Amino acid sequence: MRKLQISPSLLAADFARLGEEIKAVEAYVDMIHLDVMDGHFVPNITFGAPVIEKLRPWTALPFDVHLMISPINSFISDFAKAGADILTVHPEADPHIYRTLQVIKDVGCKAGISLNPGTSLDLIKPLMPILDLILVMTVNPGFGGQIFIESQIKKIRDVRALIDASERDILLEVDGGISPSTAPLVIEAGADILVAGSAIFALGNASQYGKNIKVLRGENS
Ligand code: DX5
Ligand code: ZN
Repeated sequence: MRKLQISPSLLAADFARLGEEIKAVEAYVDMIHLDVMDGHFVPNITFGAPVIEKLRPWTALPFDVHLMISPINSFISDFAKAGADILTVHPEADPHIYRTLQVIKDVGCKAGISLNPGTSLDLIKPLMPILDLILVMTVNPGFGGQIFIESQIKKIRDVRALIDASERDILLEVDGGISPSTAPLVIEAGADILVAGSAIFALGNASQYGKNIKVLRGENS
């Protein structure tokens, strides 16, 4: 029986108080999701390694860093030094993605690959031997608060089957439009980790974050 994990995306948190926002969810979650955007690979800009480094002392939880940047390679060691535990990258962002994943492992991080809604599962099959995590995007990357793309449920199921057949310890993470109504669909399809931004940080004040997270877990608060 898999244990459901929650990775709150700070994209929907108060950027002027990110440390306090981490503290407000820390007791209810399994890791912290950090969305790095460069305005080039995706049409939005967030933050980079220096901000992550400053956040690192705020919690002992793993940092689940989602890199929406191109190029990737020259920044990997910066993110590892800043305290990233998982580095997830997009195959379209690098022409030599297997090497990029090897570099991520070499710096001591877990290696994740992310599938955009328009990206075929076939693209990651040759990468299975090196992967620690597969992230299925259920929105187009770049922004929080978008509508869940329901056609991706089949891809989540297919990735689940691929992981189970591989007999490797690879986590299946789902990111985008996760809400109390979409979370059960994603869990049923086989997700290990739910990423959620708006459904945690944009509903009420900090005192309600714990309740918001319990609802996503399917627990009655
Ligand atoms: C989008 C990001 C997501 C985003 C999810 O590119 O990867 O992590 O923060 O936000 P919500 O949960 O609001 O869809
Ligand atoms: Zn993300």
